[in-house]
Amino acid sequence: KETPYLRVTPSMLKNMTGRKGKDAWMVLGGRVYNITPYIPFHPGGEPELLKGAGRDGTKLFGEIHPWVNYEGMLAACLVGIYVSEEDGEA
Ligand code: HEM
Repeated sequence: KETPYLRVTPSMLKNMTGRKGKDAWMVLGGRVYNITPYIPFHPGGEPELLKGAGRDGTKLFGEIHPWVNYEGMLAACLVGIYVSEEDGEA
């Protein structure tokens, strides 16, 4: 059976900045991850990590450390797939 991934839209993502009591979500490679549990472990520190929060961090991530295996590291933090506003849940 297919896994029913949550479809995350730009409007669902934009407030998930890790600030104001919200979790931090980040898009990487078309998938949305909840990076909140990883914040204390990020070697580059919290402010750097949160630069990619609430948005698509794919480009920024790739500019800094393309060798980092985020898919493996964040497998348990997968929220869903990133889709356009029109393709989101009703
Ligand atoms: C290291 C920034 C997202 C994992 C670093 C460093 C920076 C940085 C500046 C260098 C720290 C140093 O050497 O002093 C960012 C930014 C991100 C981001 C701006 C947002 C787009 C992530 C994510 C993960 C991650 C999502 C893991 C899933 C790592 C690891 C290192 C690192 C493992 C050490 C890499 C090494 O030394 O080879 N990050 N990071 N980062 N970051 Fe990130």
